[in-house]
Amino acid sequence: MSLPVWDPDLDDVLVCRAVRTVTATVKTFVFAARTPQRFSFRAGQHLVFAFEIDPGGADGAEVLRSYTLSSPPTRPDTLSITVRRRSGGVVSTWLHHHLRPGMTVRAISEPLGEFTLEDHPAPRYLMLAGGSGITPFLSMLRGLHDHGHTADVVLVHAAHTTDDLIQRAELEVLAAETVGLRTVLVPSSDDGAWPGHRGRLSAAMLAQIAPDLAERTVLTCGPETFMADLQHQLVEFGCDPGNLHRESFTFADPAVALQLQGADPAEHPAHAGFPVEFAHLGRTVHCPPGSTVLQAAAAAGITLPSSCSQGLCGTCKSRLVSGEVDMQHAGGVRPKEIAQGRFLPCCSVPLTPLVVDRL
Ligand code: FES
Repeated sequence: MSLPVWDPDLDDVLVCRAVRTVTATVKTFVFAARTPQRFSFRAGQHLVFAFEIDPGGADGAEVLRSYTLSSPPTRPDTLSITVRRRSGGVVSTWLHHHLRPGMTVRAISEPLGEFTLEDHPAPRYLMLAGGSGITPFLSMLRGLHDHGHTADVVLVHAAHTTDDLIQRAELEVLAAETVGLRTVLVPSSDDGAWPGHRGRLSAAMLAQIAPDLAERTVLTCGPETFMADLQHQLVEFGCDPGNLHRESFTFADPAVALQLQGADPAEHPAHAGFPVEFAHLGRTVHCPPGSTVLQAAAAAGITLPSSCSQGLCGTCKSRLVSGEVDMQHAGGVRPKEIAQGRFLPCCSVPLTPLVVDRL
């Protein structure tokens, strides 16, 4: 009997099943639904989680974060995230220090994102992972392996030291057992004993690793500077920018950003702006013409949960209690959710006075 597909609209609570130490600063957290259900997603997608970091705090506020799934879709009974503990990182520190098997969290979105092989089909790939940017590739490669697929893939995993390489032993097994997959691990520093490439990734090093790199579709995930730097170098090297994709919640092209934010004043007739009431905060702010709800909140000193600010990640998802907005989102909210009164403040311009509440 096939299990029902998990739907966060019906039950968004996930139970932590296991916590696994990966490196000194990285842990994997395994979740299942409360009742037997299966998860349906594409490798490379992410979920938006709501973590109750400080239940006894002033308003019991939840902190929202997007995490890419590291488990593959081929193992649908559970899903996993693999998280590096960042110095000063509120959520990653809480996860590492407090989340234990049996505890629950909320996942308030369905799997989101287009950083997937299905969205970027190609005969040959070069996957570039910086640090914990390995997570979408773990999901992809585990899925390919589970399916017994062959794949013309070169994965390059860069990390500070050999101790920071994530799932090093597993990557070696995947490479040994998946026809066509090659994994190259590159520490930026080591004790001199590392037998392979070391140092900062560059187009020149990548050309040594994959001499046909200009013919490969390149998927990059890692810190923003890591992705931007490599992308720049690869374009200069002669790679087609159309073949370069990165997991990112930001858009370099301001025209695209403007379009996604729905902030084209020409589309909005002259008016003096509208009041926006944040019901859960008991505050009302003025939203000037062409400004998004998120921008108006920020201008008034209110910090709403947000990540991409471009209608993509779903982190800012809220409830529109009353009023109308022009929302130019990029996939961060589903039609069903919109019909239920949910919206994304980061890409919504008020068309009337609004009352907004958290989910
Ligand atoms: S902050 Fe990402 S969708 Fe609004």
